[in-house]
Amino acid sequence: MIITIDGPAGSGKSTVARKLAARLGIAYLDTGAMYRAIAHAALERGVDCGDSEALADVARSVDLEVNCGPTHTRVEVDGRDVTEAIRTMAVSVASSAVAGQEGIRNLLVEHQRRLGAKLGSFVTEGRDQGSVVFPSADAKFVLDAAVEKRAERRHREMLADGEDVSFEEVLENLNRRDDVDCKQWVPLLEPEAAILIDTTHMSLKDVVDRLESEIKSICTRGSESG
Ligand code: DC
Repeated sequence: MIITIDGPAGSGKSTVARKLAARLGIAYLDTGAMYRAIAHAALERGVDCGDSEALADVARSVDLEVNCGPTHTRVEVDGRDVTEAIRTMAVSVASSAVAGQEGIRNLLVEHQRRLGAKLGSFVTEGRDQGSVVFPSADAKFVLDAAVEKRAERRHREMLADGEDVSFEEVLENLNRRDDVDCKQWVPLLEPEAAILIDTTHMSLKDVVDRLESEIKSICTRGSESG
């Protein structure tokens, strides 16, 4: 079973995808972590994120290992675990530039499909999972929430990770990333095939419950028609 969850930063998709994968006992793939890992490598090598050729070189030359369990996606770059290091604000900003490079997207899309083929059943989250990467997924969701709510959630997560950042900085960063990211993935979504959920006023548990019940009815419909 392939379940895709797409949406903007702070929509709750990472936490929801992790909880859902754990409930279903299948793997969890965080594709944002792959863009972040390339961005982290570029920053470490002192590459200018405005230089698309240099960014593409980084993406082609790194050895990116992605390890998916039901509650985590761990990423290694050239044999070094960077799972925690890719969560900083600097990496968030750089990852937007990385995600804007078509050549890098193509590389990562292929990598995600290879991972998917190995995993079999999984919950994957990102921006283009239901539209580009796994268009024939069994269940597709798009989560969204008001930008202030998303900034509030992201700010809380970053403080918990020990990042010293203000709410205003997070809000500004989200607005900036939305501008860039939206050009990437909004035109790629297939609203008629995906179930859209606004999580602004929903608790985490409500969202996971809702997804689980949608998946159950998709499975029931599938077994009735098959
Ligand atoms: O979801 P996130 O904040 O970890 O994503 C990091 C960056 O990667 C963000 O700029 C959006 C981008 N991204 C993307 O373009 N496509 C994906 N499938 C996943 C993330």
